[in-house]
Amino acid sequence: MAQIPDHIIDRIRETVDIVELISRYINLKKQGKNFKALCPFHTEKTPSFTVNADKQIFYCFGCGAGGNVFNFLMRYEKITFLEAIQKLSAETGIELPKFREDERKLSEYDQLYRAYQFACDFYHNLLHSKYSQIEPYLKKRQIDPETIKFFKIGYVPDEWDTLYQEILRKKMDLEPFQKAGLILESEKDRQKKYDRFRNRLMFPILNLSGRIIAFGGRDLGGTTETPKYINSPESAVYIKSQVLYGLYFAKEWIRQEGFVIMVEGYMDHLQLFQNDIKNVVATSGTALTSEHAKLIRRYTKEIVLCYDADAAGIQAAVRGGQILFQDNLNVRVIILPENEDPDSFLRKNNKSEFYALLKTARDYFDFRIEQLQKTIGMQDVSQKSKIVEDLIDCLGGHSDPLKQNFYGNIIAEKFNLQESTITEEIRRKSKQIKSREMRYQDNEPDRKAQEKPSLSLVGAWSAEKDLLLILLNHLDEVKNVIFQLVEEQDFLNKEFRHIFTLVKENSSKSKDELTHWLFSILEDERIVSLLTAELFKEISKPERYLNDCILKIKVTRYQTEIDTIKQQLKQLNPSQPEYQAHLHQINSNLSKIHEIRKIFTRK
Ligand code: UTP
Ligand code: MN
Repeated sequence: MAQIPDHIIDRIRETVDIVELISRYINLKKQGKNFKALCPFHTEKTPSFTVNADKQIFYCFGCGAGGNVFNFLMRYEKITFLEAIQKLSAETGIELPKFREDERKLSEYDQLYRAYQFACDFYHNLLHSKYSQIEPYLKKRQIDPETIKFFKIGYVPDEWDTLYQEILRKKMDLEPFQKAGLILESEKDRQKKYDRFRNRLMFPILNLSGRIIAFGGRDLGGTTETPKYINSPESAVYIKSQVLYGLYFAKEWIRQEGFVIMVEGYMDHLQLFQNDIKNVVATSGTALTSEHAKLIRRYTKEIVLCYDADAAGIQAAVRGGQILFQDNLNVRVIILPENEDPDSFLRKNNKSEFYALLKTARDYFDFRIEQLQKTIGMQDVSQKSKIVEDLIDCLGGHSDPLKQNFYGNIIAEKFNLQESTITEEIRRKSKQIKSREMRYQDNEPDRKAQEKPSLSLVGAWSAEKDLLLILLNHLDEVKNVIFQLVEEQDFLNKEFRHIFTLVKENSSKSKDELTHWLFSILEDERIVSLLTAELFKEISKPERYLNDCILKIKVTRYQTEIDTIKQQLKQLNPSQPEYQAHLHQINSNLSKIHEIRKIFTRK
């Protein structure tokens, strides 16, 4: 970052419109002078993600994510500041000075991306150089060469250390590969390294920007000694609940077709795609979550589940379908002929036969009723009421009251019950679920706090923060007064003190320049969030409030010093010379407090 001059960063930022940029990723709606959307950084049902076009900043009142265009890209695409600048530089045509990338300074994200990209190229090349070994399998599974090329599918032979040896040969840093979970070490002898993926067909897993973030590997040995598929472990760039396999390739097709087909396996995805049915993603063995629902919703609300016809597949459709259904997506389900999965179906049938099958897709709720009837039975009242109970459970979690009502009526009709009884039961269930969710959300900050050490907010932290807010929002009017009255040592929160120093040293910049410059140099994204949150607020009479802030900050500082000295006094003997010095210090602080109170409360 140090290599790129501020004026270039400023120019790029000014050329890009934050509303336009964010709109490419999520659906912004104008609301008053701001724009709102469902936050892409946490799960929520009502929009608290806010973009302010005047200030060119965003802030989520739900999770606290915030900043400018660069901060948005960094978070959304999981890239570094430098990469965000590079991306927008390419787009705006504002050129960056040439500089040499320093390997050691690459962010953890970068290191992982590089390791995966390297491994992907390596495995893909192996597939070609050892083609005769893998050819029979590819033929058997009817995987075309174009498909191999398109998805960069790879092959790793039956050896312990194919990738490891290559890393040694190329004299590459091993650590990123270990972090990526591609290279493991023996528990007994940590010097002994080996590959995670051995004797497998390799499927690269891509994020929404097309970067490789993990692999799924299909076993080629055909024994039961090792799992049929293994996947990369989660990492900084691979969070399973946020990834759907194949979405990168499918997203434009999903938009075009107006719906998405969800299958279970890598092979199913591949076979559909190869048969020119490209609006397809695979859940690849992970349980669907509401994060997945959120991801899909960006592209479509129409989902067709096409899972295996076996018991496990049906179970997965029931469970996964429920998550999507309750999130108010329109879910339909296709049942394949017995013992088929989408892959095998398409190897025996063609595209139009698959489309014919698609036409038979049934509404999720309908499918659910039928499954319950099959598993529970419909002979007696107790069976029927068990079914109704399950259906009400399912509807209670639905996010749309209209749909709850609509499906409620279907239950009433089907089981010959009064509509009002069903509606009442759904409402009760709904309430119960909501209160459970509330409790869960209340606990959420704690869980977050555990993940990252929280900012230690000490002393008059909110006055310190407000003072910074006034300083940043009214820079020209207040800077002289503030710099005259307030000194760095008055700040007890070191993060705020740091910002104060930065502002003081750079106060000749314009207000906007200064704020955005701060966004780009502050490394802790929580501080950026905190600042952005403040910029969204307006303080009506800053001058008056400023007095309060300064008073509070100063008094707290001197009082805190007194408290510390009192603690030290306890360890000392009155005959020691420091004892007197300490007492003197306390007195001097007390009179300072008195003085300050006089000055600031009189006004
Ligand atoms: P399937 O067993 O249906 O595999 O599991 P598949 O895709 O049909 O594979 P083939 O046709 O036998 O080669 C569906 C998905 O579940 C995950 C994989 O993502 C797989 O594609 N899975 C399955 C695992 O993660 N581990 C396993 O051991 C099995
Ligand atoms: Mn299969």
